Amino acid sequence: EGYNYGMIGLGVMGRNLLYNIADNGFSIAGFDLDEEKVNQLHSNATSEMKIKGTGSLEEFVAALETPRKIILMVPAGKPVDAVLDNISPLLSKGDIVIDAGNSYFQDTNRRIADMASKNLHFMGIGVSGGEKGARTGPSIMPGGDAEAFSLLKPMLEAISAKVDGEPCTAYMGKGSAGNYVKMVHNGIEYAIMQLISEAYDLLKRGASLNNDELYEVFKDWNNGEMNSFLIEITRDIFKQKDTLTDHDLLDQILDKAGAKGTGKWTSEQAMEIGVSIPTIDIAVTSRILSAYKEERILASEIYAEKEITSPEDKELFIREVGDALYLATLISYAQGLALLIKASEEYQFEIPLKDVVKIWRGGCIIRSLLLEKFYAAYTENPGLTNILLDKEISSLVKSKINALRKTSSFAVLNGIPSLGLQTALGYFDAYTTKSLPVNLIQAQRDYFGAHTYQRIDREGVFHTSWNSTNQ
Ligand code: 6PG
Repeated sequence: EGYNYGMIGLGVMGRNLLYNIADNGFSIAGFDLDEEKVNQLHSNATSEMKIKGTGSLEEFVAALETPRKIILMVPAGKPVDAVLDNISPLLSKGDIVIDAGNSYFQDTNRRIADMASKNLHFMGIGVSGGEKGARTGPSIMPGGDAEAFSLLKPMLEAISAKVDGEPCTAYMGKGSAGNYVKMVHNGIEYAIMQLISEAYDLLKRGASLNNDELYEVFKDWNNGEMNSFLIEITRDIFKQKDTLTDHDLLDQILDKAGAKGTGKWTSEQAMEIGVSIPTIDIAVTSRILSAYKEERILASEIYAEKEITSPEDKELFIREVGDALYLATLISYAQGLALLIKASEEYQFEIPLKDVVKIWRGGCIIRSLLLEKFYAAYTENPGLTNILLDKEISSLVKSKINALRKTSSFAVLNGIPSLGLQTALGYFDAYTTKSLPVNLIQAQRDYFGAHTYQRIDREGVFHTSWNSTNQ
């Protein structure tokens, strides 16, 4: 009898996902172009797992029950297309290929159409949680073909993380919605990481905390309302010793941030469909700026760093940094969720926002206690356009906004970069301002380009001959 599932790509993520699937009682065959990886498959498996490493695509395909259910865990982009080209001729009508990597949603749309023309199902699913999540329970964001999804559902529910006994996986919508939701997840991930790094800088340089003290602060934060995966791992990072020197490892790490592209895609998408997500944008661009290390050194020599005036009350300062981080994080989620709402209309994804926040509560990188509040908000009001408009959330925001203002001011006055905190605050102020000064922008546009404007007191489109009225 054939194997229930197949996995192509046995890197860390693919292998761990395969073991997770096998742990849950499904049989699964694996294939990788790298023979070593296939050979190693059995060495970490338990005797109960029904798994099989295969040496060729032909052997792999022949090992699977039909309709075949094949998961790809290969790098996004060309490798996915290469696998599809090689495997499609070997498949039969009705087989399902599931791309579990961080593929660009438009690539998924193209592949869905290509594969459909060959009578094959293709789905893009987002998987979050890193290596450990893949092995023990990730958050899984499937989308697309509803018929194919129903076949996968029991397996996805079995292998995913659980919160209150409920699986962290749900149908995210039509077409490439799974990839889109995962992309936005990553955009939010970038924003939160940026904000945490700013809080670290503020506590380290602003309040002179050492790594042991930082550990204690993050431990406290993680034990309270700020509980989240990213706060938790940050706490532990402060404790890590270097093996090459006798320093803390963090202090030996070069300050140039890498990125594989999902954050950039999120920002591009937001620009494309007209959604304001400045904290995510700034997180992407801050990583870019960080890479200009040599120039930054030069600039720091020209413009000597500002001397820092320590906060008068250190304990209060730490509390306020925490509140500022918490609120700016909330605002970053708000931006990402607003993007999902617009994208859902724009691309007819029909994304169930309530399920998105529900399945992000566990398994994924941006899991946090805060998502419980969002889940409650969307349960109460599924039509919510921006999380900041929710009543419960708004009282939470009001209780923290002053801390965000004070912390941002401290950063600004002391020359500590705080682009994330500032954009979160700036977004909040702009979003909550009834009359923005863009009446002036409209006037300027009409002045130099006859672009016209609307009025507050009557209907219609107006144009003024600006020079002549004034002279
Ligand atoms: C996850 C992560 C993961 C992502 C890494 C690296 O949800 O498990 O989002 O999918 O690949 O976070 O992303 P960057 O290299 O772009 O930082």
